[in-house]
Amino acid sequence: MSYSYATHLECSLTGESHDLGQLQGLSAAGKPLLARYDLAALEREIAREEIESRAPDLWRWHELLPLPAPADKISLGETETPLIPLARSGRPAGFRPPLVKDEGRLPTGSFKARGLCIAMSMAAVHGVRRVAIPTNGNAGAAMAAYAARAGIEAFCFCPEDTPEINLSEIALQGARVWRVNGLINDCARLVAAGKARYGWFDMSTLREPYRIEGKKTMGLELAVQFGWRLPQVVFYPTGGGTGLIGMWKAWQELTELGWIEGPLPRLVAVQASGCAPIVRAFDSGAETATPWENAHTCAAGIRVPAALGDFLILRALRDSHGFALAVPDEKIEAARVHVAASDGLLLSPEGAATYAAYLEAARTERIAPTDEVVLFNCASGLKYPMPQVTERMPVA
Ligand SMILES: Cc1ncc(COP(=O)(O)O)c(C=O)c1O
Repeated sequence: MSYSYATHLECSLTGESHDLGQLQGLSAAGKPLLARYDLAALEREIAREEIESRAPDLWRWHELLPLPAPADKISLGETETPLIPLARSGRPAGFRPPLVKDEGRLPTGSFKARGLCIAMSMAAVHGVRRVAIPTNGNAGAAMAAYAARAGIEAFCFCPEDTPEINLSEIALQGARVWRVNGLINDCARLVAAGKARYGWFDMSTLREPYRIEGKKTMGLELAVQFGWRLPQVVFYPTGGGTGLIGMWKAWQELTELGWIEGPLPRLVAVQASGCAPIVRAFDSGAETATPWENAHTCAAGIRVPAALGDFLILRALRDSHGFALAVPDEKIEAARVHVAASDGLLLSPEGAATYAAYLEAARTERIAPTDEVVLFNCASGLKYPMPQVTERMPVA
């Protein structure tokens, strides 16, 4: 029995094999690399009950992750995240309460911890000394935390209006961080330009093969939480799309292992009306997305005008018989306020977007009343601006 059953890396476009034993970025064709596993051997040697008997965290899935050995883990305690029913928030008559997968419970308060604990562990295995990332905030915060633990130098480039707390947490965790007067794609250009000169390893979304493996554990976790089957619909706030692509990959692997029963969920990519390249491409039947001009939304994490993995996101949406929906900022903000006051759950704006999209999908009958629905809240609501309190009460 092996700690990991990873065998090689495969180009997501051409299928060409790349060596897992070497530090890798994009494939020879310039596309994301996906880790592949010896699932036949895993099926023979491990039972799903064995996985289920382990402590409920991300590392219980180590056979389906790329780390060669337990000693390679760079960890801050990546716990399984709960499913919280929105029992009191509004929903159309007859619909079941949607369940929020609350990723805000993870280290650094967001699901970016999943991807970056794996990517940083693998970077350390391969002797990387300096990492750089373009980030809307949460990925940079997670990268800074795991880089500190690994003793690796970290450099983060953030769009000008990245939430203040993200910049502060990155700095406090010892990384260098700059505000850039542009969007995430402009930050990505700075990283690309500085790579050779400063010896940075590029941790951008899908430009290295392992963040997606960490994000995949969201899909693996759902399978265990639903008793080795899956819900009917999953709403995911989609920026670079690593989580969405990762979950779809997870469910293919579980299907091949014979560990899950029943149909796979329909995936719904949720974007903001001010930055919806995937929605536009999906609705027009395109296989790739054209970059969104003048992107703007209060939900910083999904303000991604062009995603490297656009073709993989669109493929997963179509293969899952899902769809893509854009919601305006007013509805995102109203959803955040409503869920906080009705159900006591502080959503991130991106998480609130999934609730707004759920209401819209229910209203337009794109989902059925009997559907079990999961909404992803990918970061703690505590990381974003909250209402000012101005009322004062004098003591007598
Ligand atoms: C809170 C939050 N939700 C959603 C996203 C989008 O995630 P993905 O890149 O997997 O599409 C991000 C990315 O920054 C985020 O920070």
